[in-house]
Amino acid sequence: MLQVNDLHKKYGNEVALAGVTLSVARGEVVVLMGPSGCGKSTLLRCINRLVEPDQGEIWFNGQSVRDMDDDLLRSYRRRLGFVFQHFNLIARLSVLENVSLGLIMAGAHREKALQAAREALRKVDIAPSLHHRLPAALSGGQRQRVGIARAIVSQPDLMLWDEPTASLDPILVQEVLAVMEELVVTTKAGMLIVTHELPFALRLADRLVIMDKGRIAEAGAPEAILTAPTSEVGAGYRRLWQARFMDGDHPRAHRSRAATQGMPPAAAGSSLRVQKKWAGDMEGGRGAWAGNRRSSTPSTLRA
Ligand SMILES: Nc1ncnc2c1ncn2[C@@H]1O[C@H](COP(=O)(O)OP(=O)(O)OP(=O)(O)O)[C@@H](O)[C@H]1O
Ligand SMILES: [Mg+2]
Repeated sequence: MLQVNDLHKKYGNEVALAGVTLSVARGEVVVLMGPSGCGKSTLLRCINRLVEPDQGEIWFNGQSVRDMDDDLLRSYRRRLGFVFQHFNLIARLSVLENVSLGLIMAGAHREKALQAAREALRKVDIAPSLHHRLPAALSGGQRQRVGIARAIVSQPDLMLWDEPTASLDPILVQEVLAVMEELVVTTKAGMLIVTHELPFALRLADRLVIMDKGRIAEAGAPEAILTAPTSEVGAGYRRLWQARFMDGDHPRAHRSRAATQGMPPAAAGSSLRVQKKWAGDMEGGRGAWAGNRRSSTPSTLRA
């Protein structure tokens, strides 16, 4: 669906991207990590053309993004959902107006746009009593969930997440991560997610991509990288993982611990996805989950 080839970008003399090649398939979840300044945000901004790259190609469903005129670019951007680190909500518009604005600007009927916005806000657990508040009257976690609602309201094919939890109070991080997990599990969009949340990456990513100094340092299955990294930065993440989360066991053990021990994953502190997997196993047997992580979430489990 998305293919980036040999992308380069400099800001003055500062090299932000030094030849990045990356793909995201339909429905795939790719987590992007790397040290500060390695070019993650620049890559995301080039993909939606908030930043113009100097060199390289970006293809989306067979179309060259760099060659799109204004009309094509507008319709391309409607196929993307972008979640920013700093929310970027419009301060003088209410929650509902922020979420519906993009649809209305794209020509949707006002009532239909508001209805879609209400549905998107429901998915991120923003209660109707908050719909008419201004962003300033929300907590950081609520603001970011509104930012997520704005990104999903047009049912994008590809979602780009730029450190959605990085500017949040630690207490609020979990509520946003829970919403992100729910979306990863239940929506079919491809996802390119910049985050430093290692447990999140391990649980949910199909592929982990590690960047360093404007390049891809390594890419692969998250547990493979956290077990046997081939790059310096990958080794750094492995050390971080071992120090913070593992108590010495293997990443795969973390990934499947709750299921293998047969205890309710909520008690084991596991993700929503693992909890759902566990409950799905209980209700309908394993088969429902095998091979497709996101299409078979039992509807009875929705809150
Ligand atoms: N608008 C800009 N003008 C000049 N230099 C920039 C600009 N934006 C980014 N840079 C530089 O480009 C490089 C890559 O920045 P980028 O923001 O893409 O990194 P990042 O990996 O997202 O970092 P972080 O984890 O801190 O968000 C850095 O050296 C940064 O200083
Ligand atoms: Mg960044």
